[in-house]
Amino acid sequence: ETAAATAERPAKPHLPDAQTVTSVKHWTDRLFSFRVSRPASLRFRSGEFVMIGLMGDNGKPLLRAYSIASPAWDEELEFYSIKVPDGPLTSKLQHIKPGDEIILRPKPVGTLVHDALLPGKRLWFLATGTGFAPFASLLREPETWEKYDQVIMMHTCRETGELDYGRQLVESLRDDPLIGEMIGDKLLYYPTTTREPSARMGRVTDNLSSGKVFADLGLPKMNPEEDRAMVCGSLAFNVDVKAILESFGLEEGANSDPKQFVVEKAFVGDGI
Ligand code: FAD
Ligand code: A2P
Repeated sequence: ETAAATAERPAKPHLPDAQTVTSVKHWTDRLFSFRVSRPASLRFRSGEFVMIGLMGDNGKPLLRAYSIASPAWDEELEFYSIKVPDGPLTSKLQHIKPGDEIILRPKPVGTLVHDALLPGKRLWFLATGTGFAPFASLLREPETWEKYDQVIMMHTCRETGELDYGRQLVESLRDDPLIGEMIGDKLLYYPTTTREPSARMGRVTDNLSSGKVFADLGLPKMNPEEDRAMVCGSLAFNVDVKAILESFGLEEGANSDPKQFVVEKAFVGDGI
């Protein structure tokens, strides 16, 4: 190729706040994860979310909220995403390849952060579907393991294949050079399905209110002195879990007012 040919080719339009995709993995026909470069100046707390997206057909950025699934110390950023067939963003985002660019607005926010909880003995991560994403960050965050004696990861999906991203991440923690040793036997993983038979079944809500999860794991019933929780799922899930946690005596906190549990929506809408 001649220098003249190179000069004539129009420059690729540069996205505002562009980051480069470094890897993509498809987990099911509805779920994928991907990693992108991290802006050198981006600081965030494990568990927070940012706005990411692509340039829309109208030339304006099409942005959606996404939990950062990687921990604050990671040199890249990881995301775990749904594929909504006719979703404005994810109908396109699901086709990204390494080398492509996405838009990332570097303003992290969110309630699923350690600062929003009072000190406690056990920390419960309660998630459905892509609500696992903030916990993929927090499970790899050293503070999680420094602050608590036990961490219980409850993740529920309709089918077993939808648990794979979370399961693989949990299994990889022990080999993690940074936190593998910190974890020891502190992590209790409790994945369940609701519509496909598997080793453990049932909704998070049912397994909490029946006491099944406490019996299965040999733990005392959740109580406000010892237990802390972070919740991330559909609006219906969050509302139902909140009522159960309150029935155990836990109160909802916030960044400005730390208490016993915090909640964040995994998405807006009724689900698909
Ligand atoms: P939209 O028009 O945004 O959504 C269409 C419909 O699809 C929604 O009405 C809803 O019914 C359904 N839907 C959207 N997102 C999901 C989902 N995650 N799981 C199940 N059903 C869904 N999405 C992620 O995939 N990963 C994340 O880490 C993530 N973090 C979020 C954090 C916050 C605080 C919020 C508010 C949302 C988050 N979302 C996340 C949802 C995300 O913002 C988009 O809704 C999603 O990417 C779909 O975008 P879309 O434009 O294709 O469709
Ligand atoms: P179920 O199969 O009994 O509806 P979805 O795919 O609809 O987003 O749901 C993801 C998981 O969350 C499913 O296992 C579903 O169970 C469960 N779920 C949905 N709504 C609630 C809720 N209000 N309380 C507890 N679990 C819920």
